[in-house]
Amino acid sequence: PRVVVLISGNGSNLQALIDAQSHDRLGGEIVAVISNEPDAYGLKRARDAGIDAVALPHREYDSREAYDGALIKVIERHEPDVIVLAGFMRILTPRFVQRFLGRMMNIHPSLLPAYQGLNTHARALEDNVTQHGCSVHFVTEELDGGPVVLQAALNVADDDSIDTLKQKVQDREHLILPIAVQWFLQGRLQFSSQGATMDGHPL
Ligand code: GRF
Repeated sequence: PRVVVLISGNGSNLQALIDAQSHDRLGGEIVAVISNEPDAYGLKRARDAGIDAVALPHREYDSREAYDGALIKVIERHEPDVIVLAGFMRILTPRFVQRFLGRMMNIHPSLLPAYQGLNTHARALEDNVTQHGCSVHFVTEELDGGPVVLQAALNVADDDSIDTLKQKVQDREHLILPIAVQWFLQGRLQFSSQGATMDGHPL
């Protein structure tokens, strides 16, 4: 099976996927990494791993529709079985989401449905929550609102800052994202608009 990963930045989640693949724990092969930010460090990670690394700068397109159209073309050229959004910081058009519905997953730094959107760690600290974490979910047109596949929760410590919390959450992201991709590629995870199922059981 073929995996395409979309990134915008550091690519630590991409690295977790690369490492999983090299240990035969991904269930597929990362055939391309695409970034909307040409300077993303994750593109170097991809190149270092011998993976096709594509910079597709959104600033060179007049509209979101034009950009997403170009992105669809690049993705489809690689004939992916799954598309993984790993820190891809762009809102997607309905056309894009529809094209890959049921085979596109995202990693989000909160225990969804809590804290959709940006600045999740700051908001969690502001609310004095005792638990925080991350979620893998199928991507639908609702931003960070698609069916949840897998989550990791952690206790927030009294002295946690945005930075310490972010680091703790990211460590969990790196654990759960490759597992979710592997489950999907093994055919164990199914998307439905009512919610994801695992081995036929609702999640
Ligand atoms: C992660 O925290 C992810 O949850 C969020 O963006 C960050 C990406 O980090 N959406 P990296 O590029 O994988 O290091």
